[in-house]
Amino acid sequence: MKIIMLAILPLSIFAGSFNAPMQAYIDGLKMEAKKADSSFVDFDIVRGEKIFTSSHGGKRGEKISCTSCHMVNLRLKGKHIYTNKIIEPLAPSVNSATLTVIKDVKKWLRRNFNDVYVREGTALEQGDVLYYINSK
Ligand code: HEC
Repeated sequence: MKIIMLAILPLSIFAGSFNAPMQAYIDGLKMEAKKADSSFVDFDIVRGEKIFTSSHGGKRGEKISCTSCHMVNLRLKGKHIYTNKIIEPLAPSVNSATLTVIKDVKKWLRRNFNDVYVREGTALEQGDVLYYINSK
């Protein structure tokens, strides 16, 4: 049993890294964030958590947050509040497909930021929230 646990341990240590294409995308966001604010150093999980969990007046006027569809616990399945469709968990630790395909990540971030914030997310906000999701 001990041996099995030791074998699993490194996985949790490396959880939080991105695959190569996604890392390149993150690096691009970092350059953008630095351009917008020269004091920018790196994205931040705590800021990302606030972006993900805080409520806003969404585009239909109701209070809505990222957790409305994705749940507060990102390891659980979510449910689309408008269509009732089940959404697979966002946490990479339980769903290895998330945060792996740039095209999907860009599309959903654009769409989902619009749902919640009624605008696109800045590079800083996108990076922060991707760090947060990736830490789950
Ligand atoms: C109205 C419902 C809804 C809200 C609110 C919502 N999402 Fe989503 N989100 C979805 C759906 C549906 C998908 C696609 C899931 C799939 O492809 O299985 C998705 C996918 C994503 C993905 C892509 C995961 C991947 O790698 O494919 C990210 C990242 C994401 N959402 C982040 C956010 C963030 C950040 C917010 C808040 C700003 C948010 N979502 C709010 C419904 C929502």
